[in-house]
Amino acid sequence: MSGVVPIPIARPQIGEQEQAAVAAVLASGRLVQGSEVAAFEEEFCAQVVAGRRGIAVNSGTSALHVGLLALGIGPGDEVVVPSFTFAATANAVRLCGGVPVFADVDPVTFCLDPAAVEAALTPRTRAVVPVHLFGQPADMTRIGALAAEHGLRVLEDAAQAHGATWQGAPVGALGDAGAFSFYPTKNMTSGEGGMLTTADAGVERTARLLRNQGMEERYRNEIVGLNYRMTDVHAAIGRVQLRRLAEWTAARRRNAAALTAALTDLGVPGITLPRTASGAGHVWHQYTLRVAAGRDAFVEELTRRGVGAAAYYPVGVHRLPAHADGVVPNPLPHTDAAAAEVCSIPVHPGLGEGDVERIAEAVDAAARLLA
Ligand SMILES: Cc1ncc(COP(=O)(O)O)c(C=O)c1O
Repeated sequence: MSGVVPIPIARPQIGEQEQAAVAAVLASGRLVQGSEVAAFEEEFCAQVVAGRRGIAVNSGTSALHVGLLALGIGPGDEVVVPSFTFAATANAVRLCGGVPVFADVDPVTFCLDPAAVEAALTPRTRAVVPVHLFGQPADMTRIGALAAEHGLRVLEDAAQAHGATWQGAPVGALGDAGAFSFYPTKNMTSGEGGMLTTADAGVERTARLLRNQGMEERYRNEIVGLNYRMTDVHAAIGRVQLRRLAEWTAARRRNAAALTAALTDLGVPGITLPRTASGAGHVWHQYTLRVAAGRDAFVEELTRRGVGAAAYYPVGVHRLPAHADGVVPNPLPHTDAAAAEVCSIPVHPGLGEGDVERIAEAVDAAARLLA
């Protein structure tokens, strides 16, 4: 709409403190895996994952990859993953030589359905990667029980869920390891970056070796590794952001509650509002609606009205060309339905005065137009 400033679907909160922190690192001359990275690991883990150990890397994808390798995933190993996620979850399995086995999601939370995980297990299953999608934790009680029963490793994909909790315990501290992303649109950013978290000293050591060419001591390479190091420039940004994470999470929760109240009042037709599972401490990375019919036209109409909207994710990963050889042991009706129907609208802490009302009115108008 002309004259109206669009409300973006995401707005990274970068200010003077981040700029000053970056300038200080540049002036220090120590740019990679120095004291800023060590401090970021300590501070992130103390604040977000109840004191587990953290290995900072250069992306969330790297954290998933290193995590799976450190958990011992290798060629031919089957790893159960959701198909309704960002492709990185399954890519990491493939990058280890493993086989992604796609299981369906719960239609309310959009997270891995434990019953579907159980139905996908074979004697070759070695691990499961629950994704805490849109900031809502997966049912870690039932997934943890399945893993214990069948001897599986659990790597949490917590890329979208910094600070989320399940039964009061933080995600990233519930499985054998957790992988976080600090991409700019995430609940906190370091520019690019990721963190693997674990309480297992063996996993921690292997992950530290893997991120740096297999070396602890310079030129004494113990294993074949990668260069997944985080820079101090990125860590410095992450440390500043961490100090505001709790405040931003509170804002996301307030915005989500206000959106739900406004959309409920308006009685928008053909739209299902997001729900939080009992036991879940949701951090609202996304506020995701289900649109009964005409989702793509609905996204277009919202965009035309100046409200950033997006379908995360419009195609199940098992239907992507890259994963055509993944295993789909059972049909994935909830994944396919979600991919066809979801639409996320802005919930980020950058929303200003009156934005929630504007978003709700646009959703209402678009829904009525297309009903
Ligand atoms: C669910 C999920 N897993 C993994 C990733 C990968 O993180 P990154 O983009 O930092 O590599 C992302 C984010 O992009 C994600 O949303």
